[in-house]
Amino acid sequence: MIKALRGMKDTLSPLSQKYNFFIKNTTDIVKKYGYNFIETPLLEETALFKRSVGESSDIVGKEMYQFTDKGGNDVCLRPEGTAGVVRSFVENKLDRQQGQKYKFFYYGAMFRYERPQKGRLRQFHQFGVESFGESLVYEDVSIIQMAKEILDFFGINYHLKINSLGCDKCMPSYKDDLKTKLNSIDGLCEDCKRRRETNPVRVFDCKNENCQNLIHKLPRIKDSLCESCQNDFETLTSMLNDLNIEYEIDSNLVRGLDYYNKTAFEFVSSDLGAQNAVAGGGRYDRLVEFLDGKSTPAIGFAIGIERILDMIELPKTKRVGYYFGAMEDEAIEELYKQASYFRKKEKVTLSYDKKSLKAHLKGADKANSRYCVIIGENELKERKLWIKDLELKEEKLIDFFVQ
Ligand code: HAM
Repeated sequence: MIKALRGMKDTLSPLSQKYNFFIKNTTDIVKKYGYNFIETPLLEETALFKRSVGESSDIVGKEMYQFTDKGGNDVCLRPEGTAGVVRSFVENKLDRQQGQKYKFFYYGAMFRYERPQKGRLRQFHQFGVESFGESLVYEDVSIIQMAKEILDFFGINYHLKINSLGCDKCMPSYKDDLKTKLNSIDGLCEDCKRRRETNPVRVFDCKNENCQNLIHKLPRIKDSLCESCQNDFETLTSMLNDLNIEYEIDSNLVRGLDYYNKTAFEFVSSDLGAQNAVAGGGRYDRLVEFLDGKSTPAIGFAIGIERILDMIELPKTKRVGYYFGAMEDEAIEELYKQASYFRKKEKVTLSYDKKSLKAHLKGADKANSRYCVIIGENELKERKLWIKDLELKEEKLIDFFVQ
């Protein structure tokens, strides 16, 4: 038997119903904030992710589904959505539209060759948003508020962590200093030794307890911010306070992708296992320029759909539509005709099998239909439909609709 690849899953009902429920309602929320749908290819040039997500990240360093296509191009299945959206933004020259703001949302499959475990897949789905052209910190507040609104809508239990990762003014000298301090520490893990060279702040993200003990006393980014970053962070926290949005300032939060600056945030949930991040995002004001566009501030986040689906409960739906069943073989063609007529306007579940009334009523219940419509021997003779309202528990005979 051929099975799905490790870390890749089918989405069958009822999970697929949850997926649709999540997409529909999240789309409604982000549209209220002015976001429009964008779809970018699943496959992109590998260089796109190397330049955006960054060589120091685990994603680019270890987890890419990278291969050479038949035309000899070095390509990669997208490990995340932001890079493709930025590529599209630049390629479509939206960076050239003076003063314009663009807001996009997307959802779909992402691929990371990670070690699969609960909450961690190799093919997973994200719902993401990206906002371009707004440098003011109010947009950071708005985007966090929007993420919170989504999680609240689905009744998710979460905890918000925020941090500032500084900007081009305050970061370079901080990073140089950090690198020097890291160089004088022995015993860092191999990953941290690599991070020390490529993006030293990523050491704060290390899950290795020994590394955490070694770097415990090192200065954090948050304490070296320039005046502008400091002011923005203060406005952000004071506005979150005013909006009653609870948060924790986590000076170890650096995010696993290299493109971030200033605001970074993550929503984690204690209802999940070790992989507890439901959503993550932040500002990436330099990325458009890195990808050869005109400098444009930007911010976004993505929700891990599989992780959130685990915590969503579908609301109890009311019975809808009609279930059609026959109790005689000769009635099936007539049943089909009558059902087709109904289907023009109503949801119809049609059983082709001759069954007892009891079995059909059971089928109607399983299909969550409001009405069970039966043609038996007598009904066929008299050209009538027996119909039962499964909500009101009332039954009657009506004439065939199509003669
Ligand atoms: P990320 O933190 O790498 O950010 O991923 C966002 C979310 O995707 C995570 O919080 C998690 O819920 C989910 N996720 C990540 N990896 C896996 C996996 N292997 N299996 C299941 N779920 C996973 C980004 O991808 C950024 N592009 C977010 C962003 C948008 N930043 C700015 N704009």
